[in-house]
Amino acid sequence: MSDRPSKRGQATDSVHAGELRQQEANAITTPIYQTSTFWFKDSQELIDYNEGRRPREEYGRYGNPTWRSVERKLSELEGGEETILFASGMCAATTTFLALLPRDSHLIVTSDCYRRTRQFINEYLGRLGVETTVIDPGDTAKFEAAIRDDTALFFTESPTNPYLRVADIPAVTEVAHARGVKVIIDSTFSSPFNQRALDLGADLVIHSATKYLGGHNDLLAGTITGSAELTGPIRKALGILGGIIDSHAAWLLLRGIKTLAVRMERHNQNGLEVARHLEKHPKVKQVWYPGLESHPDHAIARDQMKGYGGVVTFEIDTDLEGAFRFVDSTRIPYQAPSLGGVETLIELPVTMSFWDMPKEQRLEIGISDTLCRLACGIESTEDLIADLDQALEQV
Ligand SMILES: Cc1ncc(COP(=O)(O)O)c(C=O)c1O
Repeated sequence: MSDRPSKRGQATDSVHAGELRQQEANAITTPIYQTSTFWFKDSQELIDYNEGRRPREEYGRYGNPTWRSVERKLSELEGGEETILFASGMCAATTTFLALLPRDSHLIVTSDCYRRTRQFINEYLGRLGVETTVIDPGDTAKFEAAIRDDTALFFTESPTNPYLRVADIPAVTEVAHARGVKVIIDSTFSSPFNQRALDLGADLVIHSATKYLGGHNDLLAGTITGSAELTGPIRKALGILGGIIDSHAAWLLLRGIKTLAVRMERHNQNGLEVARHLEKHPKVKQVWYPGLESHPDHAIARDQMKGYGGVVTFEIDTDLEGAFRFVDSTRIPYQAPSLGGVETLIELPVTMSFWDMPKEQRLEIGISDTLCRLACGIESTEDLIADLDQALEQV
């Protein structure tokens, strides 16, 4: 549990947390600090800084006041001690793994996972002698059985991509902590508005801030939040590896987060109503959405999430050509990867992130030809439903 629960509502924190009330010239908004370095008045100031008596910025790879505002805001929203901002969600994950996994250690991950994260684990962590065990999401017994003496971390998305499986975070963290394993939750699909993973027991929470936090499909960013003890080595690794965000992108993120609460309410409404509608549609075989009673993790999601987000995954009752006709006939969504922005996006995973995976392997992990992922934006619910209905008529 966080020892710093936010006392204000999330809508208030989204707007105000982390921002200095008194800005230069009494401006309301935080400036973009477009500088690569920060000067010292004299040698004494440098010595005071080096010896920790004077907190301030030094060089652009180690910090910038614009990012600091975002980091403080996220710490409030997630209820964590420290947040680190990165150039992308992938950068947050890769820097964290490199910082926290000892050579020749063991990592446990869940099977339903963003493909690039899986590729980093398979192709790069193996070179450092890190062994990985992949388990099904939602199976705490399998997780417990997979823990070894050298297991350092358990990493899972919650909800996962694309099947929106929800980890029972209190249950897995209890098991993990009893064996000295740290738990990292990639909470990108929920945002801190719908789920506060640290309050549920997780040690660290990661976001692709490119998605709901940024919220406007106009930037890439990543964050990690947790205790100062765990984030310390990650911040050090960032200073060495250098995957820092540009201050203009950090400012766009700061602005995006101000409307997080109002946007999430509409994403949640659109996701739930679209999922309910599709579940009844004769041309849809199956719908995965944690807010539906038919979802395998609905009970867990109901207990630990405030809303279920804008992403709806469904299987269309057709073949590949029919699936193409469906997505090509939609008029509101853009056919594009990503999620969490104000514009609705649609994709067939087969033509998007899984195009280069051999078919047999793809089918084995449940990515069929007719699986569709819809990331509802904040348009009017009835317009989205009407558009999906007319496109399903073309199947
Ligand atoms: C769950 C999840 N985590 C991480 C990432 C990577 O984030 P980014 O694209 O910001 O690098 C993505 C990207 O789609 C994602 O969906």
